[in-house]
Amino acid sequence: MTAPSQLIAIEGVTKRYATSSGPIEALHDVSLAVGAGEFCTLIGPSGCGKSTLLGMLGGLTAPDGGRVLVEGAAVTGPDPRRVATVFQDPGLFPWRTTLENVEFGLELQRVPKARRRQAATELLGPLGLRGFADKYPRELSGGMKQRVAIGRALAIDTKILLMDEPFGALDEQTRVLMGEWLLDIWRRTRKTVIFVTHSLHEALFLSTRIAVMTARPGRIKTLLELGHRYPRAMESAEMVALRARLWGEIREESLRAMQ
Ligand SMILES: Nc1ncnc2c1ncn2[C@@H]1O[C@H](COP(=O)(O)OP(=O)(O)OP(=O)(O)O)[C@@H](O)[C@H]1O
Ligand SMILES: [Mg+2]
Repeated sequence: MTAPSQLIAIEGVTKRYATSSGPIEALHDVSLAVGAGEFCTLIGPSGCGKSTLLGMLGGLTAPDGGRVLVEGAAVTGPDPRRVATVFQDPGLFPWRTTLENVEFGLELQRVPKARRRQAATELLGPLGLRGFADKYPRELSGGMKQRVAIGRALAIDTKILLMDEPFGALDEQTRVLMGEWLLDIWRRTRKTVIFVTHSLHEALFLSTRIAVMTARPGRIKTLLELGHRYPRAMESAEMVALRARLWGEIREESLRAMQ
């Protein structure tokens, strides 16, 4: 049984992929429980199964062993009423304006036009895109495009937001600002976020907890509990020590992944 406070439960999950050179084990006995309102970050070497795990939460990939539960029910496929995903590539429709892109998920849900227009328009302020409603993706910067993609996910108003390296393609300065922006949005909307990043700064700045994964086959190596105290003083002795610890754990796994 899953306790009601555990919005997400990953229990003993294993995943193998068939490849041309034989089966590979992507995930091995991964267990993780995430409570409502958490900002949980997965970090670990390339190829350790972070996207695979997120894909399972989004119902895009099925586990070979174990279970993935959302609100106590096994995930059997995509459920846009519960879970929205943002990927590294914003994946906007070039022929749609900012507002029309943000509206897209609501359209799929057959929300009447006036209501979805209103919902999308209300989001433009928090997205920092108020003056850009009628612009097309080609007229937006990389950070703006990513905010539109996040807006599209926020518009459908799911409890759970999965984010797979959403700022990975941005320059470092934009990325830091986007992190601050996301933190603000998350604290206001009280969503549960599962976030994937390779950035130690992002993980430490944003997360209530960080799950460090091992080199493939991915397992949860360490869970760092950071709690709900924000904003994070990144230069404080506590954060500097945490960063060193986090890097130590990841470095070891990244070296193993390269062997
Ligand atoms: N559809 C697939 N078919 C075969 N192998 C796959 C498939 N998807 C992922 N893999 C393999 O599974 C392992 C985990 O991949 P995954 O994309 O989940 O890693 P990741 O942690 O997200 O990596 P990165 O940090 O580079 O994004 C990798 O070895 C990858 O090659
Ligand atoms: Mg990935």
